Amino acid sequence: MEEKMKYDINMEKMPAHIAIIMDGNGRWAKARFLPRTAGHKAGVETIRKIVKEANRLGIKYLTLYAFSTENWKRPKLEVDALMNLLVTYLRGEVSELDKNNVKINVVGDYKKLPEACVNELEKAMNITGDNTGVNLNLALNYGGRNDIKNAVVEIAAMCRDGKLNPEDITEDIIKNHLSTAEIPDPDLVIRTSGEQRLSNFLLWDVAYSEFYYTDIHWPDFDEEELQKAVYSYQNRDRRFGGVK
Ligand code: FPP
Repeated sequence: MEEKMKYDINMEKMPAHIAIIMDGNGRWAKARFLPRTAGHKAGVETIRKIVKEANRLGIKYLTLYAFSTENWKRPKLEVDALMNLLVTYLRGEVSELDKNNVKINVVGDYKKLPEACVNELEKAMNITGDNTGVNLNLALNYGGRNDIKNAVVEIAAMCRDGKLNPEDITEDIIKNHLSTAEIPDPDLVIRTSGEQRLSNFLLWDVAYSEFYYTDIHWPDFDEEELQKAVYSYQNRDRRFGGVK
């Protein structure tokens, strides 16, 4: 473990939850005169590395923004390629992830994905359901506003049915109706590839998250870059609106 640690990371102060906006696959491919799908394929290799490293570092939750509610606007060929990559990744990787004690979970309206994706995701969640290592949350057909909207619909129905008084709605009740209900708020959000925006990711959950941006495209992100982000996080002063 020691020799692979370039940054002086404090293993006692690990962020419990890291969420990543994996951006730049397209630009990475374009720079190499490759089709965009080659960038996504290379991006899957990075996912493999980063899940392993997160597990090794003892990070409890890793959430990856793999497909947003807005990504359906991409050309059909690209959407199909992403869905195929997801199925291939799960088919090829689940037994290894299981061996490494990784627990797979999904956030977002994943049931609206193609049937093969839904089947593989549910299989993966069943197989890894009892694992106690890193919780790998795949954000699929995920949108922060959509997640909040779904919670509002459920809570409004409870009020309509007399199960809840509107005055008794709390922040915890709202969180409990999000697809991230079982997942603590992210401590650290990483976005690769130079853009500094949230793109509808985990809107409710990131209220007090630390943000880390890097110009590196997702296919070039690696173990050392993850350590660098964690090191940056560990050297910040989190006050959660209070004083120290
Ligand atoms: C952003 O790059 C990346 C995505 C929208 C998808 C991320 C998906 C993967 C890494 C692979 C599939 C996922 C799994 C879980 C197997 P971009 O296309 O927006 O890049 P650009 O901004 O440079 O065009």
